[in-house]
Amino acid sequence: MNGIKLRGTGSCVPRHVVTNEDLSRRMETSDAWITSRTGIRRRHHCGDESAAELCVQAARAALSRAGVAPEEIGVCIVATVTPEDLVPSAACTLQQALGLPEDTLCFDLNAACTGFLFALHTMECLLNASPRKFGLVLGAEALSRIINWEDRSTAILFGDGAAAAVVECREGWPSIGAVYGCRGDRTLLHVAGPGSGKRSLISMEGTQVFKFAVETIPRCMDAVLTRHGLGADDVDFFVFHQANARIIDLVVRKYAIPPEKYAKNLEEFGNTSAASIPLLLAQLEAEGTIGPGSRVLLVGFGGGLTWGAAIVEFTQGGRND
Ligand code: COA
Repeated sequence: MNGIKLRGTGSCVPRHVVTNEDLSRRMETSDAWITSRTGIRRRHHCGDESAAELCVQAARAALSRAGVAPEEIGVCIVATVTPEDLVPSAACTLQQALGLPEDTLCFDLNAACTGFLFALHTMECLLNASPRKFGLVLGAEALSRIINWEDRSTAILFGDGAAAAVVECREGWPSIGAVYGCRGDRTLLHVAGPGSGKRSLISMEGTQVFKFAVETIPRCMDAVLTRHGLGADDVDFFVFHQANARIIDLVVRKYAIPPEKYAKNLEEFGNTSAASIPLLLAQLEAEGTIGPGSRVLLVGFGGGLTWGAAIVEFTQGGRND
């Protein structure tokens, strides 16, 4: 199988910022509690913006950075658990808004916070069967729409945003070698769907999910490094799902990852589920921390339960077709 590389990323977050102080006026909590337990200080929540509008802006930014035209896209996948509409899918909505060709394979994918990783792996498989070499992968969420404001242990965590990556598939490029898994579980993390007749609100056993995360991330990292025949030192940058700063700190300590090789942005955005990994990728690419030739290890985990990791490279830039 031919591998994919990232050609360009882009992102869009809602204008409205909700600080910890804002939340402490709405529920019994404090900036000190939220910051010390999670590392989150602010998050962006949709006001009058829709999740679909965020997707369009993020996708346009990624296409522009990649230097790829909409008509060159063969597959478009939006990883999300909070699409604006169930039908049409967020990806079909993008097809129309961006003017993607009608034979572009467009669909949404639900793997909660691991969504972007599942989507990248799916994209690699599908681009091998596509007549066009470029694909568009998004992670996009409007989690503020499904927050349970009666539950202070989860209401403080989540933010909204969308981020996109244009990927390219070329003969001879190595696979991203994704590792992934799932274990059906309704007790640790649950959001009812429209078929249940219940309201869609997030419920989570935070302490259990925390334990799941700190066990699962190293398992994923070891598996993906082994699959690529690499050591942690061979990786240029580590991008972890941004759920809780304490989870990231534990992993970074375990692998002795130096500060210049990882980043956290949950202070500003909170946990944006499927959008979290591409939001950070887009930020890092925009500031020049990662770019042409960078080898980046991505790790996701979350509801489902789901988990996954992959090692992706950025293209060297320039079009060779
Ligand atoms: N403000 C103030 N106090 C709060 C609070 C809040 N927002 N939320 C919970 N508390 C209180 C609890 O009521 C509890 O009080 P008690 O001891 O008097 O009963 C105390 O803080 C500890 O609660 P607990 O749930 O054990 O806290 P925690 O240290 O586990 O932190 C999370 C809670 C949610 C921050 C943490 O478990 C977490 O981040 N888990 C992982 C979540 C995650 O990664 N989810 C995404 C998966 S994709």
